[in-house]
Formats: sequence, structure tokens, C-alpha cells
Amino acid sequence: MAALTETSSIVIRDIDGGAEMRAVEELQQEVWGLPDLDIVPLTQLVAAKAAGGVLLGAFDHETLIGFAYGFVSYENGEMAHHSHMLAVKPAYRNFNLGHKLKLAQRERLLVQGITMMTWTFDPLQSLNAYFNFNKLGVVSDRYLINFYGDDAASFLLRNGTDRLWVTWLLTSRRVHERLDKTGFKLEFERVIPLVQLGIDDSPSRNNLPEGLSHEQALIEIPADINALERQSSELAFEWRDATRWAFNEAIAAGYLVVDFSRQSRGDQRFGIYLLSRGKRLGDFV
Ligand SMILES: CC(C)(COP(=O)(O)OP(=O)(O)OC[C@H]1O[C@@H](n2cnc3c(N)ncnc32)[C@H](O)[C@@H]1OP(=O)(O)O)[C@@H](O)C(=O)NCCC(=O)NCCS
Repeated sequence: MAALTETSSIVIRDIDGGAEMRAVEELQQEVWGLPDLDIVPLTQLVAAKAAGGVLLGAFDHETLIGFAYGFVSYENGEMAHHSHMLAVKPAYRNFNLGHKLKLAQRERLLVQGITMMTWTFDPLQSLNAYFNFNKLGVVSDRYLINFYGDDAASFLLRNGTDRLWVTWLLTSRRVHERLDKTGFKLEFERVIPLVQLGIDDSPSRNNLPEGLSHEQALIEIPADINALERQSSELAFEWRDATRWAFNEAIAAGYLVVDFSRQSRGDQRFGIYLLSRGKRLGDFV
């Protein structure tokens, strides 16, 4: 297939009918490498959609090349939407299609009168962290250990299934600002990160009271945990362990995860989470 150079012919619209839903089943297997039993099947897609869920596809002519799927949920006493899956075919990535699918999903919810969307992602995945916090403006107050259990069901889940539960406050000033502007630059206090990338790519834990003594706390992650895991599953697990410790300690101490930025030190690239003390989700509405 020729390299993709532009996406103007791609249309985002509701997914409808059996054939298009079968294509969603196939795309799940292609993107996550899931066995048959772990995919969300057509029947569930039909029911969730009929009950107020959203199922949107990105189509290159007739071919489904990405989708967003979520269902009605209940969050802190309010009606909300839990977005369970977002995927773009590998050849179509980094053309802003994931972003466009999220925007279209947001529009659908605003029409329903829903202003809160939640989802989960693996906090060691730098791409997803950047996409969720920096491009979309989510915030997170929950770290979930082995959310989907610890038996590896997919090629992406070998290192456990820890997740950050993120909240996207659809009409907040913060979200409007992020949607209007790309490449949001973060301001950092001079704080020692709770976990830092070592020169040998291993995580080093710093002193906890010191790391939690400022308004901001920081947690570093590798730029590409998947490549690192291919080199050494032990090293990937060290990262899981260290970041699980850091997120849990910081959240228990009253910090909220509010941002993520891509950074470099010499020729080493990494990602850094920014956590803020004394903030609540309600401060971002
Ligand atoms: C997550 C996903 C849907 C994003 O789709 P996409 O169409 O590539 O998304 P976009 O092009 O809108 O945005 C991707 C951003 O990530 C950035 N990015 C790419 N690789 C990155 C990395 N290793 N670290 C940090 N950011 C990265 C891109 O630069 C781009 O940001 P920019 O527009 O500011 O340059 C797609 O990567 C995917 O299907 N991944 C596998 C499934 C998955 O993880 N789904 C989400 C969790 S359920």
C-alpha cells in the first residue's frame, strides 16, 4: 500500500448495519490482537448503540479505518458516557483522525445533553498519555491496578492491565483551550520527579516526601514502552511497578493527574506527567 499523505477523503459518520459492525469486530482484532472471545461483538455494539451509546467510524471510501465506541454511564451521581474503545488502523495514524473521532463523539454527547466522558488507558503508553492529556485536556483522579485482570489477553497487555481512569469535561474552559490549540506547552516547577528515567532506561525512584513537597509532582515514563518491553520484559515490569507506586502515592496524598508532555534530556526522549496538589475534578468543570 502506498504511504498515506493526506486524509481529505476520509469521512467520519455513524456506523450502521451488520456489515459495518463486523468490520468493527475485525478492526479490534487487527489493532489489539485480541482473541475472538475478548472482542466486543456485533450484538453488544447494536444494544449499546440503541440504548444511547455512540459508535462512530472513520471511512476511507467504503473501508472502515478507525472507530470510537462508548456507552451510557453513571459517574459521581451524573449521567455520563464511558468510551470503551478508540482505534485507528496503523497506516492511518498521526493524521489527526483519532482526534477527529473524539471530537465527533463529543459532539454527539453534547446533543444528548451529556457533558462528561470517561475512559481508561495504560499510563505507560506515551502516545496515549500525550493524546489524552495534552491534545484533549482530560484529568485523572484514579489509578486502577490490573483493571482487566492480570492474565495477558492481547499482545498489548503482557505487562498487566493497570489503567488511569480519565475524565473529559466536555464543556470546560480547559477542554475548549486544548481543542483550540495544538502542542500545548507546560510550565514545570523545579521538582524532583517521583520516578525518573535513568541513563540505562531503567526507572529510578526518588525520595517520596521530597517529590510530594510541592504544589506539583512529576512522574517520568519512557518514550516507547513497547520497544523497551520487546528488549526486556523485566525492565518493562520495573516501569510498571515504579509508576504504580508513584501514581498511587501521589493520588493518596491529594494530587490530581493534570497533564503530560514529551521531553528530551541529551539524546534521551521521555514523557512526563504533571500532577497538581489540592485540585479536584470539580475545579475543572
Ligand atoms: C490512539 C490512536 C487512536 C490515535 O490515533 P491517531 O489518528 O494516530 O491520533 P492523532 O493523529 O489525532 O494524534 C496522535 C498524537 O500522538 C502523537 N504521538 C505519536 N507517537 C507518540 C509517542 N510515542 N509519544 C507521544 N506522542 C506520540 C502524535 O504526534 C500526535 O500528536 P500531534 O497531532 O500533536 O502531533 C491510535 O494510535 C491507535 O489506534 N492506537 C492503538 C489503540 C489504542 O491505543 N487506542 C486508545 C486506547 S483505548
